[in-house]
Formats: sequence, C-alpha cells, structure tokens
Amino acid sequence: MGLRWNFVAFLSLLFLLASTTKGQSVFDVTRYGAKPNTDITHTLKFNFVTNSIVKDITSLDSKNFHINLLGCKNITFEHVTISAPENSPNTDGIHISSSEQIRILNTKISTGDDCVSVGDSNKDITIRDVTCGPGHGISIGSLGKYTKEKAVEGVWVTKCKLIKTTNGVRIKTWPDSAVKYSASDMHFEDIEMIDVSNPILIDQEYCPWNQCNRKPIISGKQNPRICAEAAPVDAPSID
Ligand SMILES: *[C@@H]1O[C@H](CO)[C@@H](O)[C@H](O)[C@H]1NC(C)=O
Repeated sequence: MGLRWNFVAFLSLLFLLASTTKGQSVFDVTRYGAKPNTDITHTLKFNFVTNSIVKDITSLDSKNFHINLLGCKNITFEHVTISAPENSPNTDGIHISSSEQIRILNTKISTGDDCVSVGDSNKDITIRDVTCGPGHGISIGSLGKYTKEKAVEGVWVTKCKLIKTTNGVRIKTWPDSAVKYSASDMHFEDIEMIDVSNPILIDQEYCPWNQCNRKPIISGKQNPRICAEAAPVDAPSID
C-alpha cells in the first residue's frame, strides 16, 4: 500500500514538474477565461431550476463564470463565498438571465469580473448584504444585444458593500435599435463603496467589438441611496 502511494505521489510530482517546466501551471485562472468561448464552462450552472435554496458553499478559482442561472424561478443563494484572483478574466460571480424571484443574500464575492451580473429578461431580483471586491462591481446588463430579450423588471440591490472594485453599480445597455424594451423598477439602496473607481455608471452606449443594435429604456422608480468614497485617480478603468 505504502509503495503504491509513493508511486502515485512520484507520478504526480513528475506531472507537476513536467507542466511547470513548460512555463505554465496545470491550470492558470488568470489566463483561462480570456480564451475563445469554445471550451469554457461555468463552474455551477442552474438551468430551469425552481423553488430551491443554495447555502454555505464556496466556489474557488472558476475558469469562467462561477455560477450561472438560466430560466430559474424562486432560488435563494445564502451565505455563498466566491473567490478568484482580481486578474482572472470573465470570472463573474453570479450571472442571472431569464429568471425570476432570485435572491442573493449574505454573500461574499471576490473575483476578476462582475460580482453579480443581472442580464436580460429578469424579474424580481434581490441582492442584499453582499460584499464585492475586488472585481467589476454589480452590473445590470448588458441589455439589448439580442432581439429575443425581454424587459428587466424589479431589481433590488440593498445593503451591499463594494470594496476596491473598478465599478460600483452600473447599468449597461447596447445602443441603436428599432425594438425597445424597458429596464424598470431598479433600486440601489444603502450601498457602501470604498476605493471604487466608477461608483455609479449608466452606460447606454455599451458597445464592445462594435456590435451594436437596439436600445432599451431605463425607466420607473429610481431610488438611489449610496455612500461612496472615491478611489485613487490612477485606479484601473472599466473593463
Ligand atoms: C420558493 O422556494 C422555497 C424553497 O424551496 C419554498 O419554501 C417556497 O414555498 C417557494 N415559494 C413559492 C412561491 O413557490
């Protein structure tokens, strides 16, 4: 038994040496997410899951998004810890799309991209007592890229803390389109920011790679209650 374990340990060591001598570790999170999308998976995918509670879990060093929700209804995430290095591309903490009644509570997210990103076609999303940083902050959008998207209605971001993030809270929408839909009923209340480069950012001309089409409208009750402390001027800019 002892011999076999030693043999396994020896093989592992050889493998490790072989991979490090090539100049890269077995898996480098700071580079992986930047690869073309073909072979990239999210760590935890929830597709069309309903009436569930996810609590007390940790996601560490994902290759791409840590947690991705698609078509879900009534899910609560509570006391979740998400962590990836600041320089790991596309490692969004929790991405939500086409879902409703989603609550993210009492959670800590340190990552290289958005802390929580609320995509298109979402309804009734609560993000409360969430601490973000480092990363790109809490983001609604980007909205309006695809023609099948529906409105985003009812997003409550309350009692959140952003520490050393590039952005605080932002809404990003793609410009120029014939079809319009609305992003309404957005609430940002009791948000604390420390060392945040762009505390509030509403970008209606979000257009990476020059692929622009339509323009959703931001409307409804806006009720910001945000306390922000500016970051040093030489801090990195958005995206
Ligand atoms: C939402 O999910 C929770 C947890 O499974 C459940 O207890 C609750 O009844 C659900 N609410 C509705 C409206 O279905």
